[in-house]
Amino acid sequence: MHQDVVLIKLGGSVITYKQRPLTTNKIAIDRIIKTLSSVKIPIILVHGGGSFGHYWSIKYDMHSNPERYSSEGIAVVHESMILLNHIIVKSMLKLKMNPYSVPPFSFMLGNKPILKKIFELASMTKDNIIPITYGDIVYRSYHRYSILSGDELMTMISSVLRPKKAIFAVNVDGIYKDPQSKQIVQKIEEKSLIKFSGVNFDITGGMKRKVREALRISLAGMDVHFVNGFKPERLLKILENSKTEGTVIKGKRSSTGNA
Ligand code: IPE
Repeated sequence: MHQDVVLIKLGGSVITYKQRPLTTNKIAIDRIIKTLSSVKIPIILVHGGGSFGHYWSIKYDMHSNPERYSSEGIAVVHESMILLNHIIVKSMLKLKMNPYSVPPFSFMLGNKPILKKIFELASMTKDNIIPITYGDIVYRSYHRYSILSGDELMTMISSVLRPKKAIFAVNVDGIYKDPQSKQIVQKIEEKSLIKFSGVNFDITGGMKRKVREALRISLAGMDVHFVNGFKPERLLKILENSKTEGTVIKGKRSSTGNA
């Protein structure tokens, strides 16, 4: 069943300066949070690691494959994500948005989401609360841990809650047709998905991973949007079902029927 929520991921490259270790982009955080404070529909937030979690996970050589990583590294990566999360939460508290921070540890068991806990996140939005979670290092099994990205969390939460929309706020205007021309693909529909996910499609680095997760979400039936997080007014437009710059990957059975 579709839950009456919108799932939004604040990309690490929007909320932090990716090239500067442990540095938030406070202006970008405050602008996007201020914009979201005017939104009336229920929201669940996810955020990435940017120059916090990624910085330490590279230092301690920790990845998305479950392994026995350094205990110190596990502690440090987790702590850095709590720190980043707290900065966002404080920005939300100032605007009386009632954030409720939830580490992924609390709704994951091994590789699987704990369904009841995920549904509780949706229930909390009915109490005027905005649950907020983040990419993190999580316990998998037999003393093995792995980095669970905010992008994967988007897919996981979407598959359970089937939100009205899933939105990725990123540091570019949308998905590029090709990296040279920087032309934005406005709309990707089911029939073009195969070609789009094909090996020839040139999407670099982090974006490729995001698009992979976005395709998974859209194939499960939800519309997925990519929007520039530095231009929060566009995010607002998406929430209002109005046209704006960005990319939408239409869900297999479109949730809104809108462009
Ligand atoms: C990364 O999450 C989390 C950690 C490294 C602990 P993401 O991979 O979703 O972060 P961004 O948005 O790409 O920075």
